[in-house]
Amino acid sequence: MTDSLGTRDRRHLWHPFTQMADWERDEPLVIVSGKGCLLVDEDGREYLDGSSSIWVNLHGHRKPAVDRAIKRQLDRVAHTTFLGATNPPAVELAERLVELAPAGLSRVFYSDNGSTAVEIALKMAYQYWRQRRPAPRPEKRRFMHFRHAYHGDTVGAVSVGGIDLFHETFRGLMFPSTTVEFPYCYRCPWGKQPDTCNLHCVGDVQQALETNAHETAAFVVEPLVQGASGILSMPPGYLSAVADLCRRHEVLLIADEVATGFGRTGRMFACEHEAIQPDLMCLSKGLTAGYMPLAATLATEEIYRGFLGRYDEFRTFFHGHSYTGNPLGCAAALGSLEVFDTENVLEKIQPRITHLWRGVRRHLGDHPHVGDIRGRGLMVGIELVKDRATREPFPLEEQVGNRIGRVLRDLGILLRPIGSVLVLVPPLAMTRPQLTRLVTGVRTALDRVLDGGQ
Ligand SMILES: Cc1ncc(COP(=O)(O)O)c(C=O)c1O
Repeated sequence: MTDSLGTRDRRHLWHPFTQMADWERDEPLVIVSGKGCLLVDEDGREYLDGSSSIWVNLHGHRKPAVDRAIKRQLDRVAHTTFLGATNPPAVELAERLVELAPAGLSRVFYSDNGSTAVEIALKMAYQYWRQRRPAPRPEKRRFMHFRHAYHGDTVGAVSVGGIDLFHETFRGLMFPSTTVEFPYCYRCPWGKQPDTCNLHCVGDVQQALETNAHETAAFVVEPLVQGASGILSMPPGYLSAVADLCRRHEVLLIADEVATGFGRTGRMFACEHEAIQPDLMCLSKGLTAGYMPLAATLATEEIYRGFLGRYDEFRTFFHGHSYTGNPLGCAAALGSLEVFDTENVLEKIQPRITHLWRGVRRHLGDHPHVGDIRGRGLMVGIELVKDRATREPFPLEEQVGNRIGRVLRDLGILLRPIGSVLVLVPPLAMTRPQLTRLVTGVRTALDRVLDGGQ
């Protein structure tokens, strides 16, 4: 008899962001299929996909229009190089992205994942200033990022990351970047209250720009919601204030919409909520509705033109990947955008968003260990605390989030908590009854793990 898949997995595999000593002790979940917002394991048990398979899935699994788009492309060709050639889905997708993106973004550079989309934006910003015409500014070589930020795991993306637990180990490999405090209202770094603070936090960005703009190429920002730091959300008006300040100080604004893009916050892109126009924008995750690894970095014409010149001027952007412009990925993305159009997805999700937030407030708002509920659209973070009155956090070693995630799995719900923050990021297609099941399941798991909330 052959060994189980779980045993074979543990013999050879190494999983991301996973303490493998723990993994080796446990029986892994083996997902074999999916349909809509449900995933099915090898024993036929069904699970609600409460994290959209790590924030990528939009329209559910095995969505016919996306399946069809990929199959159609597969009947033509799976992959051809983007060096010296182009392909129909890549061209068509670029046109669609430019139509949908905030005004001013007119150029599309493809890659494979969120980290590379960010890496490319950083390198474009850096090189742009070095060779800008008519007045190059090579001294603008630093970056700015927020505390708690997460922009991916490649070395450049880590350099603009602000989660010490993930990033500190690699300090020696990283290039210098200026940290700006994030307006984490529940634990305001300036000790202010949201209703009376008058956006005190904007002053901090202003100061950082006044001090550093002369040597700063770009400020990397996740618009509205810092996802991987625990769905930390900006107060209203903050994002547009930051965008204005960047513009005034001649610092490029990189909008990392890897997590927030494609409807996740209730609009196609989070930038739209405050009508900001970034200079560079990073897309991945939902770009292919959770089907294929594909990413895009969008740039303004101004940045793009900075790279034009005679061959021997070597202004070229020397960057690329084997799978740049992959036709199957681009076809999947086109299939997804077709679903947005034909099914009025952005309209349809509004009542679902209202339903989700109502449910979260009703079923979780009064729990003695729920400290903060935050987020936007279909991105909800629930910060659990040991003591609601003092906001004392749970020590990381207690692994409260992981323990709750384990109980949820037994209840047929898959979530991926971040530390003590429960993160609900359902597919845009999750139905109202499924959303209710998700929220009530979280309440049950909370009560079980935290001893009836006592
Ligand atoms: C905002 C943001 N940027 C970048 C990334 C990195 O994306 P990837 O995991 O596809 O490299 C992530 C991943 O969670 C993200 O949330």
